[in-house]
Amino acid sequence: MTTFNNPLPNPNPTIDGEHRIQVGLINALCNAVDEKRPADEIGTILEQLVDYSETHFVSEELLMRLDSYDEFQSHVEEHQKMMDTLKQMVQSQREGNLDLLPGQALNVLAFLLNHINTFDRRYSAHR
Ligand SMILES: [Fe+2]
Ligand SMILES: [Fe+2]
Repeated sequence: MTTFNNPLPNPNPTIDGEHRIQVGLINALCNAVDEKRPADEIGTILEQLVDYSETHFVSEELLMRLDSYDEFQSHVEEHQKMMDTLKQMVQSQREGNLDLLPGQALNVLAFLLNHINTFDRRYSAHR
């Protein structure tokens, strides 16, 4: 089993808790893919990750809107990029192209850790 770094802590405890769950789900996905778990098991984790990420991004975007945050647009575009990649992964999983998933899962993990450590921290520091 591979272990990954946690994101840097976020000053907002709600956002911080959500990030830990989100990163935890990606870690679980990377491990499941690595261990070549059955496709339906991978699909379940992927579904949870998609749902959780959607909810987390909506709540962050709502906070940013309430704050009239000036980086709102570029931040939302980052969220959309990650959701697009996750949707491609769901597609790969449904079509049985499981070979694509390890690379995609590692990319999403790197993307998310970077997003949390830059975009999300910058927003929380601004509040
Ligand atoms: Fe976030
Ligand atoms: Fe974000």
